[in-house]
Amino acid sequence: MLNVSNASNEDRLREELVMLGRSLYDRGLAHGSAGNLSVKLSDGWLMSPTNSCLGRLDPARLSRLDADGRLVDGDAPSKESFLHLSMYGERADCGAVVHLHSVHSVAVSCLDGIDPDNVFPPITAYAVMQVGRLALVPYFPPGDAALAEAVRRVASKHHSILLANHGPVVAGRSLAAAVNAVEELEQTARLMLLLDGRRTRLLDPAQVAELERRFPG
Ligand code: 13P
Repeated sequence: MLNVSNASNEDRLREELVMLGRSLYDRGLAHGSAGNLSVKLSDGWLMSPTNSCLGRLDPARLSRLDADGRLVDGDAPSKESFLHLSMYGERADCGAVVHLHSVHSVAVSCLDGIDPDNVFPPITAYAVMQVGRLALVPYFPPGDAALAEAVRRVASKHHSILLANHGPVVAGRSLAAAVNAVEELEQTARLMLLLDGRRTRLLDPAQVAELERRFPG
């Protein structure tokens, strides 16, 4: 028998995923067919289909996957479905995953000499609170199994990950939380590039520790 409350919850999540995809696209945080979004259901997850434009998703055609990442309904899923599966598998609190090719984050992902365990210096409070310690994983082609495996290896320790020469991936408890965090990541990347070469006063370790105590992830 159809569980009416689950059905309406799924309908709501379909609409939310489409709305947030359009919002990212309308503000230039996603372009062309780059980026993908997913959100967890009680028995699997919903995902943007491969080669779709985040600004023009159709709620009825979203890919529906089971808990193991197999397509059960809708269009073929994003080629990064295994990467999203790595996040869900490693993070019990993960309710949604967002991957973008947003310009400033991609620029930082191309810089040489980045600390792979903590890409951003502590520039602002919100970067510490919402992005946390951003990990960098090495370059692999989009959709490659090795890329999903590289993400799996760091996902239990990092909810924010930067794919080298590619873009950010963020896990959140909800779609709204994951989108807020990836937007903060993009703005922090922009600030990092703006401040490059300028004398900068960073938050000190005690200020970072205080934020982590007050706002635990
Ligand atoms: P998909 O169109 O398969 O989602 O791929 C887009 C992308 O961002 C690859 O990294």
